[in-house]
Amino acid sequence: MRDGVFNLYKYWKNITKPIYYNVVSLPGESFEFELKALELEKESEHMTLHMYEKLEKVHSKQKSVVEKSDLLSQTGVFYKNESLPPVSAFANAPTFAWADLCGNPTPKNVELFSNLMAKKSVLVITFADRFRHPDGIDRDVLAFGAVSYMQHKLSGMTLLFSEEYKCKTKGMPMVMMAFTNSKSLASTLDEKSTIRRPKKVNTKKLTPSLFKEVKALLGKGLSNELIMSKLKLHKMELAGYKAARTRELRGGWSKTKKS
Ligand SMILES: C[S@@+](CC[C@H](N)C(=O)[O-])C[C@H]1O[C@@H](n2cnc3c(N)ncnc32)[C@H](O)[C@@H]1O
Repeated sequence: MRDGVFNLYKYWKNITKPIYYNVVSLPGESFEFELKALELEKESEHMTLHMYEKLEKVHSKQKSVVEKSDLLSQTGVFYKNESLPPVSAFANAPTFAWADLCGNPTPKNVELFSNLMAKKSVLVITFADRFRHPDGIDRDVLAFGAVSYMQHKLSGMTLLFSEEYKCKTKGMPMVMMAFTNSKSLASTLDEKSTIRRPKKVNTKKLTPSLFKEVKALLGKGLSNELIMSKLKLHKMELAGYKAARTRELRGGWSKTKKS
C-alpha cells in the first residue's frame, strides 16, 4: 500500500507543483513514506510534515526514531502524540493527507474528512472494510458502504480510486480510497490509470430523515416499487436502506449516536 500511496504522492507533486505544502500522516511504526516524501522535497520548496500518533506507547517508542533521524528531526517536521485533527486544519496550503486509520468508519472518524481542503490537495483514507460488529459505525456508512458514503460526503472532490486489501499483520479486510480536488491530477490519472473508477452513486438523498421515511413505509408494508417511486429512490439506494434496517433490527446500532 505504501508504494501505491507514494506513487500517487509523486504524481501529485509533479502535476500540481506545490511550493508551500503540508504532508499529513499517521506513521504508526514505519516512517518509510514520510522519509521518502522528505527526500523528494526540493531546495525551492517548503514542506511541513504533520505526523500524528494517538497511542502514547507507540509515540514514545517511535519518538526516539524521529530524534535520531536527520530528516525527521528538522524544522517543519512535527510528530505529535495527538489524534488526527479534521483535514480542514490544514486548509492553509495544498495538502497531501494520508489518513491510514485502518479503523472502523465510526461517526468520529468519518467527521475528520470534508471538502474543506486547500486547492490542489489529495486525501487518502483507509478504513476497515467489513464489520462483524457494526456497533458504533455510522449508519449511513453501513447502508451505502464506506466508499460510496465518502464519495457523497466529499462531493467537492474526485474519487481517484478505491482498492480493497488485507492488513498485513492481522489479515483484516481494508479499503483504501484516494480523493483530490485537483482537476489536472484527476484527469492525468484518468488517462494513465488502468484502474476503472467506480461509477458515482447518486446518494444526494442520503439523510437520516429519509431513512425514517423509508422505515415508516416499510413498516406499512408498501412494496419496493411503491417506495421507490414515492421517495424517488434508485433500486440500489432502497437496498442499502433495507440492509441497514435489517442490521438495526438485529440491534447492530444500539451504540450509535444518531437515532
Ligand atoms: C495503520 S497504522 C499506520 C501505518 C503506516 N502508515 C505505515 O505505512 O506502516 C495506524 C497508526 O495510526 C494510529 N492512529 C489510528 N487512528 C488514529 C487517529 N485518529 N489519530 C492519531 N493516530 C491514530 C494507530 O495507533 C497506528 O499506530
